[in-house]
Amino acid sequence: MTTRRAQFSTRLGVIATTVGSAVGLGNVWRFPYEAGTHGGGAFMLCYIFFVLIIGVPVICAEFIMGREYRSGILGCYRGASGGRRWDIFGYAGVIGGIMILSFYSVVAGWTMEYCVEAATGQLTATAAGDLHDSFTGFITGGRSVLWTVIFLAVNAAVALGGVKKGIERISNLLMPVLVVVILACCINSLTLQGAREGLTFLFKPDFDQLTPSVILSAMGQAFFSLSIGLGCMMTYASYFRDDTFIIVSAVTIGALDTVIAILAGIIIFPAVFTFGMSPTQGPTLVFEVLPAIFGQLAGGGFWATLFFVLLFIGSLTSTISMSEIFISFIGDHTGLNRRRSTLLTTGIAMVLGVLCALSFGPLARLNLFNIFDYVSSNILLPVGGMAVSLFVGWKLDPAVFQRQMRSGRHIPAVVTRAILFCLRFVAPIGIAIILIAGLI
Ligand code: TRP
Repeated sequence: MTTRRAQFSTRLGVIATTVGSAVGLGNVWRFPYEAGTHGGGAFMLCYIFFVLIIGVPVICAEFIMGREYRSGILGCYRGASGGRRWDIFGYAGVIGGIMILSFYSVVAGWTMEYCVEAATGQLTATAAGDLHDSFTGFITGGRSVLWTVIFLAVNAAVALGGVKKGIERISNLLMPVLVVVILACCINSLTLQGAREGLTFLFKPDFDQLTPSVILSAMGQAFFSLSIGLGCMMTYASYFRDDTFIIVSAVTIGALDTVIAILAGIIIFPAVFTFGMSPTQGPTLVFEVLPAIFGQLAGGGFWATLFFVLLFIGSLTSTISMSEIFISFIGDHTGLNRRRSTLLTTGIAMVLGVLCALSFGPLARLNLFNIFDYVSSNILLPVGGMAVSLFVGWKLDPAVFQRQMRSGRHIPAVVTRAILFCLRFVAPIGIAIILIAGLI
């Protein structure tokens, strides 16, 4: 090791950046649309179950690897295995990271458009009945392509340093505000006339809906929302201090992330039924429902602007963490400096991102957006999660596992044993069965 790796300086910094990575469009945009297309309650129950029995143990596994070997995903596997046999999972993480960054930036671009439309009063002036057509007009047109490029440029500017510390500080400050705004929106949604129907949809499981492909999607959503499976959390953990308490951080991330997703569901579904929309329409759902909610609210323009600005910042803290997988990979394994590797990452993501943005218009037949979304969440993330579980569960020196889990403290043996059991058996076997059943 030649250069000393940067480190997070405070405990709050660790929680804020990892939670900042986890909380984003995955909670507010992807969770409601996935729950909507997969039947609501039963999907949500599975999702929560997967966060608990697979998500939290896999976060621990990524943290252990990252902090022990202080590198990006490929470097961690090489350092830990002493060879190149696990390289494929390193590359899968890097490729998956770019795929997610590409389609995610399209949706982040939508939030930027909505920031502008909300601030100018245009958004709340659109009648609920016209929202579908106006949103369709926007995503099929050229402006959404432009926003994708702009978003990636902003992401690069932040990742290039300088502003990064600033963004972290801003997000520390604003994430609590986002939670307050989300809570206020929840309260509003609960007063809507379709509240009962919406809550029934979200909370009352209909187990007939549970097909293998729904279960696979719920697992994919858990991985996506927690930022695990691609080495994103692993890369962040390489910047942890030695006394960062792994298990407590993992549980905190899992809990906060899940609560925010559920709150987003409580905002969306009552409104879906109130405004006579369909929960099954897919990726566009949230962007047609939210303006309808703000449109009927006193001071709606203000609330909408606040909401979308915060969501934009939430997306940015997530894409920064995705970019870090690739940037760290290039930085660790080639001679390129941080600046060049950031520009390279951004260039690739811009090309793919534009193709994803065009998936709603001219490239609808190819639909790279849906392909990237599906392949990354339902294949690459679970496979990556299985790999890291098997690695930490079976191959990693148990003494390293124990030392990293303890992080210089005393923890009851039952906790480390339970996590190890999940990593050895529950996660790999569960993921394998669900993946195979869900794909065929
Ligand atoms: N978890 C983030 C969200 O919910 C998205 C994300 C950030 C992600 N980094 C990731 C997903 C790495 C998969 C892998 O918005």
